[in-house]
Amino acid sequence: MNQLSNFPTYSRHNDSTEFLRQSIVKDIEEKGYSVNPFSLPLELADSLLTRALNLPKEIYQPAGVGRQSGLEVNHFVRNDNIAWIAGEHEIEGAWLAFTDALMQDLNRSLYLGLRSFESHFAIYPEKHFYKRHLDAFKGASNRKVSIVAYLNHQWDTSDGGELVLYNNCDDVCGLKIQPTFATLVVFLSEEFPHEVLPATRERISIAGWYSVVDKKISTLFVDHH
Ligand code: OGA
Ligand code: MN
Repeated sequence: MNQLSNFPTYSRHNDSTEFLRQSIVKDIEEKGYSVNPFSLPLELADSLLTRALNLPKEIYQPAGVGRQSGLEVNHFVRNDNIAWIAGEHEIEGAWLAFTDALMQDLNRSLYLGLRSFESHFAIYPEKHFYKRHLDAFKGASNRKVSIVAYLNHQWDTSDGGELVLYNNCDDVCGLKIQPTFATLVVFLSEEFPHEVLPATRERISIAGWYSVVDKKISTLFVDHH
């Protein structure tokens, strides 16, 4: 049985998000990144938020830092808690249907050769952060495209918690992006250093990566924590 069949509205995502997906593809082609405030289908964003909040607390683990083999938890670099999205729940399936449709579009238009996708919920408690980093180093990783979705209702500029996206390694100004509800950010993993600034309240996001090799979350991340 199609796992989305109980959620008729979700099965229409591929159509309802077509405009969004096309504008992401165009942005990536023209400037390598794409910022889309309030753009995820609202019911999808709301369901993902409910899912993130309803997952048992013990599913969330301190996030690791580093290459896949030598991943370690370093609280000076990042101190968010993460829960990998496996796609078994229908809401997660709907998210993966959307990210898969975007992958097809990116491949079709930009020949990126993306083959797999992995993503996790991330909860940053008040004052927590993720220091400036690149999601992938050229030649050292298979991650090519990063995607971040924000699930924070009524986020105020004074709440902080911005994603700062730097144009290149020399850029110290960066572009500040508020983690407001249903905002979607996509960028080339090897090109844009970025960081998460501390917030005055809990901050919830989904971070994901498209890769040019086949991956299975269950085997890849089994010994990360
Ligand atoms: C990451 C990341 C950004 C964010 O998890 O690699 O950069 O805004 N997240 O949550
Ligand atoms: Mn990152």
